[in-house]
Amino acid sequence: MHRIPLKTPLLLLFLVASAEVKADRHKPSTTYRNFCSACHGLKGDGFGKASRYLFPKPRDFRASPLQYATSINRIASSRDILHVVKNGISNSSMNGWSDLSDIQLNEVVQDVLSFRLEGARERYYFAVSEDTGESSTGTPSISTANTGLSAYLSQNTVAGPKWLLASLKIGEPNLTQGKLLYQTQNCHKCHGVDGRGSYGIDLTGEFGYPAFARNLVQESYKYGSEELDVARTIRLGIAGTKMPASPTLTDEQLRDLSRYVLSLKGQETIETTNNQRYRRAIGATLQRK
Ligand code: HEC
Ligand code: HEC
Repeated sequence: MHRIPLKTPLLLLFLVASAEVKADRHKPSTTYRNFCSACHGLKGDGFGKASRYLFPKPRDFRASPLQYATSINRIASSRDILHVVKNGISNSSMNGWSDLSDIQLNEVVQDVLSFRLEGARERYYFAVSEDTGESSTGTPSISTANTGLSAYLSQNTVAGPKWLLASLKIGEPNLTQGKLLYQTQNCHKCHGVDGRGSYGIDLTGEFGYPAFARNLVQESYKYGSEELDVARTIRLGIAGTKMPASPTLTDEQLRDLSRYVLSLKGQETIETTNNQRYRRAIGATLQRK
């Protein structure tokens, strides 16, 4: 019986932690419940009723990073979220919601932000409770936990300044250099020498599902196809996916590579179904069109 008092501090911390999490459980707006929860779920965890039929899956706002993030620390700002919600995401079930009123759009953006914050807070408390469970020497006091918490939250949920090329005037792109970079930066390993995507290699994405690197010839880009958008995607990568950041490329190299990548684009853009995308990601449709 004397073991109970020994465990009390840990239990207390856990109770305080879970009480705090519970007390803050976000109740989404009616707009979210009407238009978003069927896919993203009432808790924002991506497990709405329709999610089982979809590929890629609806984003889990609590646990996965948002992919359209234009800030240098790759954390989506409320503007980024508004942009992606209004415009939708090509080749996925996420359609654009530009018909919602500004008030409604603001409501759902706030919901996404609240879910993200709540998820980060949960992860933090989970990590703290794991830590204290493992260490035999002392339990961090709740006030240390709270300082740690705000640092963790600001690191994980606060968008930094917007990413921009250092110099906006950088002359004409050099396609030969761009093509060379495509090879030396290993872009071809995932996107194929011809740019048609990751045939024959295994990649994983959100929730550990198989993923397919973009077909740069036939698919539209999800997060912008202006030269500056492509440069940003290459420089920052896409959080939560296997698309890596390229922090060492200079502005000139980014310009050359972006122009080369855009030059791969063919005349035709393909639209695919959830099932086709899934089959392609697991390597079931290996033949190229
Ligand atoms: C029919 C299903 C469906 C509905 C309804 C839906 N979404 Fe999505 N949403 C998705 C899917 C699928 C993705 C992931 C697409 C991808 O990764 O290509 C997604 C992605 C997102 C993202 C992630 C963007 C990023 O940068 O990572 C946000 C934010 C989002 N949805 C917000 C909303 C909001 C707000 C609503 C309601 C107004 C909504 N969605 C309604 C299916 C849906
Ligand atoms: C390890 C594999 C991998 C490598 C290496 C890689 N990519 Fe990607 N890339 C991906 C994946 C996966 C996606 C799709 C992410 C998603 O939407 O889930 C992607 C997406 C993209 C996109 C589409 C962006 C959009 O808005 O839709 C572009 C453009 C791109 N990559 C260019 C490049 C370039 C240029 C390089 C070389 C510097 C590169 N990639 C290296 C895996 C990779």
